[in-house]
Amino acid sequence: MKKEALNIWEHAQGLLELVYARGLDQVPEMDAAAQGAELLAPFIGQPVFGGDPENQLVLTRPRLLDVGCGGAHFYHSLKKRGLLVDYFGLDSSHKMVGRARKAFEVLGLDPQRILLGAVEDLWERRFELAVVINVLTFCPDFREPLDRLVDAGVKALVIRDNFGPTTTIRWEPDGYLDEGFNHLKGYWNQWGKDEVSLFFQSRGFRTEFVLDRRTQGQVEMVVDKPYHWSWLVASRL
Ligand SMILES: C[S@@+](CC[C@H](N)C(=O)[O-])C[C@H]1O[C@@H](n2cnc3c(N)ncnc32)[C@H](O)[C@@H]1O
Repeated sequence: MKKEALNIWEHAQGLLELVYARGLDQVPEMDAAAQGAELLAPFIGQPVFGGDPENQLVLTRPRLLDVGCGGAHFYHSLKKRGLLVDYFGLDSSHKMVGRARKAFEVLGLDPQRILLGAVEDLWERRFELAVVINVLTFCPDFREPLDRLVDAGVKALVIRDNFGPTTTIRWEPDGYLDEGFNHLKGYWNQWGKDEVSLFFQSRGFRTEFVLDRRTQGQVEMVVDKPYHWSWLVASRL
């Protein structure tokens, strides 16, 4: 009850309409979705023979979880590039999930592939790959979401987030929500690159930060908050 009423993502009608259009693939692909799909590509495909199968990172039709999927438009970015996965979306906003499921229905896809829930509550589900685009920043901490994904068995994660030299927790109003809801606050956190790398190393993953193609390392203001968008590719050692 409380979560839904206070969730900023439930009170942005204009964004929800855009998200639905994205889910239907009716608007141009987001730059972030394009780069995310390209970064995932090396992990999707035919198995490479000759190595230790335990350490094999190239996965045939892996189960992929799109965390904080919004309208699930990332499905289209994968499909356009011929990247064959078993796609699942997860989002904690009822309205986002409603839009994504509706778009899937219209497109003749299975709406049950869109899961409702917070990544922190992921439980008893298994995935080989995860993509987390512009989501972790809205979580109170990065550790619990990432631990749930590690526990779910993922072999590699592609993450776009506000990664900077230090961790900074911001709990502030959004300010751009529907009329009457601009008192609602959310997290707008920045995660320290070294801290996140150390976390992944301790879980048995290697990490590589990749320049964000759209923002080119420049600070971008997102609802008046400074963002250092960067990609992180984490894969099991
Ligand atoms: C900025 S949107 C990003 C949507 C999509 N990934 C994209 O790149 O367009 C953030 C999304 O993350 C969802 N979200 C925020 N916190 C979440 C959490 N803890 N678990 C699952 N989804 C979450 C929101 O409901 C929202 O749909």
